[in-house]
Amino acid sequence: MVSASRSASAAQVLVASNRGPVSYAVGEDGELTARRGGGGLVSGLSAIGDREDSLWVCSALGEGDREAVRRGVGEPGVRMLDIDADVHADAYNGIANSVLWFVHHLLYQTPLEPVFGPEFRRQWAAYETYNRAFAEALAAEAGPGAAVLVQDYHLSLVPGMLRELREDLRIGHFSHTPWAPADYFRMLPDDVAEQLLRGMLGADRLGFLTGRWADAFTECCVRVVGGTSGTRIGVHGLGADADFLRERARREDVDERLAALREQVGADRKVIVRVDRTELSKNIVRGLLAYRELLDTRPEWRERVVHVAFAYPSRQDLAVYRDYTAEVSRVASDINSAYGTDSWTPVVLHVKDDFARSLAAYRLADVALVNPIRDGMNLVAKEVPVVSDEGCALVLSREAGAYEELGEDALCVNPYDISATAEALHAGLSMPADERAERTKRLAAAATALPPARWFLDQLEAL
Ligand code: G6P
Repeated sequence: MVSASRSASAAQVLVASNRGPVSYAVGEDGELTARRGGGGLVSGLSAIGDREDSLWVCSALGEGDREAVRRGVGEPGVRMLDIDADVHADAYNGIANSVLWFVHHLLYQTPLEPVFGPEFRRQWAAYETYNRAFAEALAAEAGPGAAVLVQDYHLSLVPGMLRELREDLRIGHFSHTPWAPADYFRMLPDDVAEQLLRGMLGADRLGFLTGRWADAFTECCVRVVGGTSGTRIGVHGLGADADFLRERARREDVDERLAALREQVGADRKVIVRVDRTELSKNIVRGLLAYRELLDTRPEWRERVVHVAFAYPSRQDLAVYRDYTAEVSRVASDINSAYGTDSWTPVVLHVKDDFARSLAAYRLADVALVNPIRDGMNLVAKEVPVVSDEGCALVLSREAGAYEELGEDALCVNPYDISATAEALHAGLSMPADERAERTKRLAAAATALPPARWFLDQLEAL
């Protein structure tokens, strides 16, 4: 680890996101340890990470990160903003992961939700403060005429704020989520809806993962602010990183986990795999109910299949996410009590995040279940076919962004329809091996059409 900053005001390519590429933990000895995150954005940015003139601006997210900022510790090319913890909590938990996430993923349980009153207004003020802190840091760090790529719904106001501070910059914004249909988006208070859209339209160019989300955004602009006022809109369907995944999935730690999973599942059993953050849009509970229906309506699969579900805790500061996590465990154990025998556990649920074990499960899967209510893209659907050992049938929600590219060779489902999902699981389990292998090959080709580095550079060039 080295001292944090490069020379000030020199950056020519800047990325801004809430979660950065690295996080810190303070050990018992008081030493800081750094952990580099995975994911498409991190590997995408590594395409320019070697450039002396790039800078990634992100939030300090926990005590470890804050301590790193205080001690002036960091990685070259990364600047963490130590924003007041209460402001961050209101902006991140209150607005971003409750309100905006829920709007774009259609998660509100109307008629009881949402309620926009004084608490919302306090959180909204924090969201503005938080976005302003990013805009000011970017304005201070960017060299003349630099390109700034702002990421996601946490930072919707940044383009407009930054434009006011620095006319000379080229500003892009990319949404990794779906975009809400206009009628749903307009549940937001009018002034907030308008501010969000105007904030984003402060960019020169906006990026979305699919044409569907881009169209929804445009429709919102037409309805709320009268149009997109000359801002360009592009679609960049982030793909899986084939080279990285194929190499990583063949390492020893993955082999070890594969052997352990095989042992746990039992010989000659088929495997249905799912891997998600435990988060409401992922629709894990309905996936489990569909599996239960499969065991119920097609008893020939009992003892012959195991559902391996990895549900990694996410955003546990929020009660609604914690409750959902608990519900997932409860439904899984209900299925095991109802159908399990001395020699067979129908659902194997793991909640501890382990990337090597996820890759092992991808290799082992006969069927992958990806059934989100809505999802910007869903990279699991794209990663499984790339690393699968013997071909894997993909049961895919038509509401995932990945459906646009993978729909033809997947078994597509309406994510609310658990009976249809149970039938798709049956079809996947019954698919002849050669057909499965052929489909997997085509899925892998479609899934890797736009690797992360290309995805990032395309946006930069277009800007
Ligand atoms: C989605 C968002 C990302 C976010 C990720 C993990 O993919 O689009 O911006 O980083 O979820 O969520 P978290 O709240 O843990 O950062």
